[in-house]
Amino acid sequence: MVSIQSHRKDEHVSLAIKFYDKDSHAGFDQLRFIHQGIPEISFDDIDISTKLEDISMDFPIYIEAMTGGSEYTKKLNEKLARIAQKTGIAMATGSQSVALRDNSVSPSFEIVRKTNPNGIIFSNLGASATTDKAIEAIKMMDSNAIEIHINTPQEMVMPEGDRTFKWIDNIKSIQSDIECPVIVKEVGFGMSKETIQQLVDAGIKNINISGKGGTNFSQIENYRRKKQEMDYLKDWGQTTVESLLEAQPFKNKVNIISSGGIRTPLDAVKAMALGANSVGIAAPILYSLIKNGEEETVEFINEFIYGIKSIMTMLGTKSISDLQSEKMILSSDLLSYVHQRGLPY
Ligand SMILES: Cc1cc2nc3c(=O)[nH]c(=O)nc-3n(C[C@H](O)[C@H](O)[C@H](O)COP(=O)(O)O)c2cc1C
Repeated sequence: MVSIQSHRKDEHVSLAIKFYDKDSHAGFDQLRFIHQGIPEISFDDIDISTKLEDISMDFPIYIEAMTGGSEYTKKLNEKLARIAQKTGIAMATGSQSVALRDNSVSPSFEIVRKTNPNGIIFSNLGASATTDKAIEAIKMMDSNAIEIHINTPQEMVMPEGDRTFKWIDNIKSIQSDIECPVIVKEVGFGMSKETIQQLVDAGIKNINISGKGGTNFSQIENYRRKKQEMDYLKDWGQTTVESLLEAQPFKNKVNIISSGGIRTPLDAVKAMALGANSVGIAAPILYSLIKNGEEETVEFINEFIYGIKSIMTMLGTKSISDLQSEKMILSSDLLSYVHQRGLPY
């Protein structure tokens, strides 16, 4: 018998593919670089390595949290792990809470470490998880870090979702009791400077703002409702670009990670120019894997990396930290957002 949770995991994959849009709506089109004609740099000089606390990552992109928890998603996780191994990028799995409740589906996560023994792997759990559960999740994949997701709008639209969201004490305990890096992430609704401040006050050192403009979980969960009456929430949240602007006051204090609607190398480079140290990509990789297969997805990622390095060459920025001091031109809408929210940019 397939459990309700395992069935939901499969539905999330099929609905993410059904609603997949190759164009980003995360606000990157409201930002422009200024072209400089004489960059005085060579492509081979570009170093795109980055860090997550003391973990060195060769590439600033990684496969963001998506799957696991059923027979079907076990196969997807195995393929994603092989793609991560072949390209050398890190990988997060989807929430492991399903496996902590029912250990018959643990192999759908364990397969990731089995397939990629030396890779960088991130665990994932919701913010109501206890420290003990977080430790169990990390052990399951011998993970290098753990993502703790916050997702109030998703839960509220999800017919069987949680209705209580008292997370901050829990987040504090996980941060103080877990030895590996802890990343608090959204799931595509973005963050405000107030939320980021709460996380910084809780001691969190890695924050993934995962903004609006890519995979939309209020749309996905609404589709799963009998009457689909909650579509008025489909535009809820801050875009990825707005969230990165909200993060400006914190970018030298904590490690900012960006995800949500990263669709092209130019989106990724703009996210890093706004202060992100790394960038998570979810649906485009899943879509490529399901529609085009493993080999083409490896190619997609390698081309993505080439694209990032090409743009950095054009900008004359040798490293991610050089890129982070590159100023962009903001559209008048974005400029108005920055003024209304009192953000430094
Ligand atoms: C099928 C699917 C399942 C997801 N499951 C999780 C999850 O379990 N935990 C989590 O933190 N985020 C989850 N996400 C959200 C992604 O990690 C990411 O934050 C979001 O999809 C935005 O990125 P994208 O626009 O590149 O897809 C899921 C995304 C997809 C597409």
